[in-house]
Amino acid sequence: MASTTPKTYIVEHLDPELGPWSELEYIAIAKESEQNGAKFFLSSLPPAFKVPEGLKAVPAFTAETRGVEEIYANDKSRVCLLDPAAKSDLSPEDGDKFDVFLFGGILGDDPPRDRTSELRKKGFEGRRLGPIQMTTDTAVRVTRLVVQGKTPLDKIGYLDYPDLVFNEHESTEMPFRYVKGADGKPIMPERELTTKNIITMTPPPVQIHPPLINSANPWATTIQDLERLFLCPSTGAVTTRTSIITTAFPHDPSKHQYAFFNPTTHASTRPDPQPSIAVTDPSQTASLNTLGYSPLPLETYLSYIKEITTRHLSPPTPSSSSSPETISKLTIKPFIISVTGTPQQVADSYRLVSLVSSEVPVPLHVEINLSCPNIPDSPPPAYSKSALLEYLFEIRQAVPEGARVAYGLKVPPYTHSAQFRELIDALDEDAGNGESEVSFITATNTLGNCLVLDQEGKQVLPGEGLGGMAGSALHPLALGNVKCIRALLDERKGTLGHVSVIGVGGVMDLGGYRRMRKVGAEVVGVGTSLGVKGLSVFAEIEEGVDGVW
Ligand SMILES: Cc1cc2nc3c(=O)[nH]c(=O)nc-3n(C[C@H](O)[C@H](O)[C@H](O)COP(=O)(O)O)c2cc1C
Repeated sequence: MASTTPKTYIVEHLDPELGPWSELEYIAIAKESEQNGAKFFLSSLPPAFKVPEGLKAVPAFTAETRGVEEIYANDKSRVCLLDPAAKSDLSPEDGDKFDVFLFGGILGDDPPRDRTSELRKKGFEGRRLGPIQMTTDTAVRVTRLVVQGKTPLDKIGYLDYPDLVFNEHESTEMPFRYVKGADGKPIMPERELTTKNIITMTPPPVQIHPPLINSANPWATTIQDLERLFLCPSTGAVTTRTSIITTAFPHDPSKHQYAFFNPTTHASTRPDPQPSIAVTDPSQTASLNTLGYSPLPLETYLSYIKEITTRHLSPPTPSSSSSPETISKLTIKPFIISVTGTPQQVADSYRLVSLVSSEVPVPLHVEINLSCPNIPDSPPPAYSKSALLEYLFEIRQAVPEGARVAYGLKVPPYTHSAQFRELIDALDEDAGNGESEVSFITATNTLGNCLVLDQEGKQVLPGEGLGGMAGSALHPLALGNVKCIRALLDERKGTLGHVSVIGVGGVMDLGGYRRMRKVGAEVVGVGTSLGVKGLSVFAEIEEGVDGVW
């Protein structure tokens, strides 16, 4: 009997990331499903997956974290798996037999996991769509033409491997089969045909999973530190200590120090000028520091990243230690490169990172640190709208057309609404009428001008003893900052709604992680607690999270 149930097209998307092409394809599928009385699901979505606004806006679309096995546990016979290895081709009669058409396997894994064969083994009946590979939206379109439009597969007009022309000088051959449109051209998502910008979304979203990272700090200084952080399975990205292009910060161990302290008693560790992991009294959960920036220039960090990724992401050989699974996870683990300097230096840093990004197999992001409280006579620029605008203007000049490296700002803790306004107004003004180019805000850095007196009443740090405070004593202020910044970004949806917040400040354990997520942090950073506990802080949080990030 002919089925009258509306058709549902399901694409399995197991990757926390969504490339710009896929986003356009999904929007096209959603809109065409809507026009044809069908539904479109993305299933098996990882919790970190951010559904793009353009997709959410189409009523026919549903985002599902469950897999098809679960959704149709009792009704597998309604589901048809589009499977290149199936025995028979899809036919118009299949529109009567099945209500759900499943496209398995948009996977982040490299080498690709054969999700279609996994689903096949689970008993979903399969049909073929022909010998030539199609884009995802084409595969759904062809299926719809067959099962809803009742056109046999071999009667559909196709265009194989068409040239996509960008302008009179540039074109590229598309390695897929497309459906021929009424105008004789291949049917593609709207903007694919008109602009090369589609190859990148602007600005690029920050996709970090698990959403737990180290913040920029002294325990991310050396190549050994960075390698350990890169290999740590409980974190989703590595942040480098802040560096300056071509400049080694003049680190002076007699002036630049840090200590951990108990925020109630002020019992503290001896100040340490070396960026080493100190094992301390567990009640010393706060930190105070007079450090400036890394004694190593940006170029050194970029060479470290090249070295680490070459060592761990080259194709596995019998002697290499990384399995293909580890390699595929690590290739989506970004390095967030923390930089600072004058607006010109920061723009040049961005240019350099952009250049290097094409030479390394992992995503690179730039975090512009505008918030260190410890530089004499240099107030953190992020407290001032005009200073922020100078940076935002210069960096804009450095951003290329097309593919680009995501960038964000590291901001200090703000303590009243006028300070938040300086930030938001600067971002808004920089964005003009369009979407801001900024991808993320990292809040917060340390709180300046704090003083710790030990149990004998002596200041713990050198000089005036004043320094940037962090750790548990900063946590309530950092939470408040993340909450306010998220709300203010959301208030300006069109220009700033897409900006992610990386929440940092006093996250010492699972409780801190959860609180940060609750107030709107998409990703959570850890500084002081990494110094206190070492890498085990990440494993501890991951264990507590128990899969529910
Ligand atoms: C000793 C020390 C050095 C730091 N150095 C940097 C730095 O170079 N760049 C930066 O952006 N933040 C730096 N921070 C700030 C941290 O990244 C983080 O924003 C802040 O400490 C709050 O997080 P926490 O409470 O988890 O430490 C430093 C923090 C500490 C404790």
